[in-house]
Amino acid sequence: MLKTRITDLFGIEHPVIQGGMQWVGYAELVSAVSNAGALGILTALTQPTPEDLAKEIARTREMTDKPFGVNLTVLPTINPPPYEEYAQAIVGSGVKIVETAGRSPEPFMELFKEYDVKVIHKCTSVRHALKAQSVGVSAITIDGFECAGHPGEDDIPSLVLLPQAAEALDVPVAGCGGFSDAKSMVAALALGGEAIVMGTRFMATKEAGIHQNVKDKMTEADELSTNLMFRTMHNTARVFKNSVSDEVVEIESTGSATFEDVKDLVAGQRGRVVFEEGDLEHGIWSAGISVARVKDVPTCKEMVSRLVSDAEDIIDGRLQSIKA
Ligand SMILES: Cc1cc2nc3c(=O)[nH]c(=O)nc-3n(C[C@H](O)[C@H](O)[C@H](O)COP(=O)(O)O)c2cc1C
Repeated sequence: MLKTRITDLFGIEHPVIQGGMQWVGYAELVSAVSNAGALGILTALTQPTPEDLAKEIARTREMTDKPFGVNLTVLPTINPPPYEEYAQAIVGSGVKIVETAGRSPEPFMELFKEYDVKVIHKCTSVRHALKAQSVGVSAITIDGFECAGHPGEDDIPSLVLLPQAAEALDVPVAGCGGFSDAKSMVAALALGGEAIVMGTRFMATKEAGIHQNVKDKMTEADELSTNLMFRTMHNTARVFKNSVSDEVVEIESTGSATFEDVKDLVAGQRGRVVFEEGDLEHGIWSAGISVARVKDVPTCKEMVSRLVSDAEDIIDGRLQSIKA
């Protein structure tokens, strides 16, 4: 057993969390992760309306009696979703764990506190983590440069960012970005992390509701299989390298590109088609560098059990044997 303040905080068996994933974090995956003793997290905005989110929470409950959470990602968009109503759907459904991301969780903290919701805030810098701690979150996920999705603009990998955050904060910190297996998990624990949060690795599991072509493609990837796009717009996103993300990077390399120039290529609905229909070149889809470490498509139970037992073996075996 690996026990930390985060396993205690969320009442989970293993210090492993599945981060929110747009178009991936549905009830089947989330319940499978939680049933495996880790923490599954639904993605609020994957559901078209707050009412649909309430139904998805109910569906998850039918499949697990273990703790699970909901991710609420607040990003600047032209037509923002009704975030407040999504937050109401979360608390109204009795969910007690929320992963916030995208911006400071401050506007939602009063509501979450009122309903005894524990907030784990995901951010990409120590200064944002300190700010989130000051508004009362229970834990921080610190997202290194390796991660899928939005790594921020500081470009600090987990190897440095995680210990910096763990030393600066009083609340427990989960390492995120680049974690995929027992070796990286033990490293996270050594660096001061009290759990790992994974996205990419959980995509390549049997229960992830995405097309098999995507999962198979992931098992063939290496450490050069991602692209960083939107760098020139200071809104960096790490996505899988394909013809569409290559084209976006190419357009940006002219130095004068605006969002308008790439808008159609990066449309979220096109990425969704990749996941649903398995046409890998149809749009952009998120993946982190840890995709290089994905070699198979196990069930969540197999993956989490292997992760934890191999981590224990590394701690008891290899690390002990090194000690003179
Ligand atoms: C397909 C995909 C979609 C994601 N969507 C979101 C999201 O909507 N909100 C969010 O906070 N993080 C999102 N993430 C990031 C993950 O929650 C997690 O922080 C990240 O994957 C960690 O890095 P890793 O991929 O190296 O494990 C997404 C990741 C992936 C792979």
